[in-house]
Amino acid sequence: MTNSYEYIEASINGNLGQITLNRPKVLNAINRPMVSEILSAMEGFEENEQVRVIVLSGNGRAFAAGADIDEMANDNAIDFELRNQFKDWDRLAMIKKPIIGAVQGFALGGGFELALCCDLLIAADDAEFGFPEVNLGVMPGAGGTQRLTKLVGKTKAMEWLFTGKRISAQEAIQFGIINRMTAKEVLLEETLKFAEGIANQAPLSIRLIKESVLKAVDAPLDEGMHFERKNFYLLFSTEDQKEGMKAFQEKRRPNFRGK
Ligand code: CAA
Repeated sequence: MTNSYEYIEASINGNLGQITLNRPKVLNAINRPMVSEILSAMEGFEENEQVRVIVLSGNGRAFAAGADIDEMANDNAIDFELRNQFKDWDRLAMIKKPIIGAVQGFALGGGFELALCCDLLIAADDAEFGFPEVNLGVMPGAGGTQRLTKLVGKTKAMEWLFTGKRISAQEAIQFGIINRMTAKEVLLEETLKFAEGIANQAPLSIRLIKESVLKAVDAPLDEGMHFERKNFYLLFSTEDQKEGMKAFQEKRRPNFRGK
């Protein structure tokens, strides 16, 4: 895939679709065209059979320091309503392939919200997460109050949202916000290695596991259980299930094809 974007870079390397936020001079502040570009790249990866995992990272010293304040400073409520401001964000949440975020430096406001849209997060030891919107007289609008609260519970979410206080990588590990922490120098390398491991798993299992886990976050238990069961049954209609179980019996590594 050639990179025809202004605010991001996108490429395919082996099984991985890589997106790099690329406005380093403004710490990758997220403007509307950047969100559209991220969505377009992700939807392209979604349709590309070669891509099994999507990796999202930021160029420069930050992952992303928030929504672009300059872009929205003069907006009013009706501008947002008429523009349906977060429609692209809603579609990001519908991507079915796994998304792994690599976070270095700041992941603030919309940057933290984008990180929370990822399924797994690896962060450099200098990473700082937070919702500073309260300091601007606003609040998160791209899912931050919902996703953070579902992830860490009301107590810490309320504290972090009320104070705008930053969360260190160490704290983020402690509260289950990130999966791993690495030295900054090896962040991308480690993330790609981690992503490769997941790309080698049976793609349809990964797809339906993602769907089922996200259901667990949003649905009551009985609905989630029902949903999980249907997905479990569905995987028994795949070639990869036959291959995976046959390989186990033949004591060899399976060759998963996503069929
Ligand atoms: N929007 C627009 N520009 C931004 C930006 C943002 N969110 N964050 C940083 N920048 C720009 C700065 O204006 C600066 O540009 P200039 O060089 O042209 O002045 C450049 O990036 C570098 O930033 P700093 O000089 O401020 O760097 P620093 O290291 O001193 O501070 C920082 C870093 C603490 C992250 C600081 O830049 C900051 O506080 N940024 C704003 C963070 C923020 O409030 N984010 C939330 C935005 S609201 C939101 O995201 C709403 C939502 O939910 C949708």
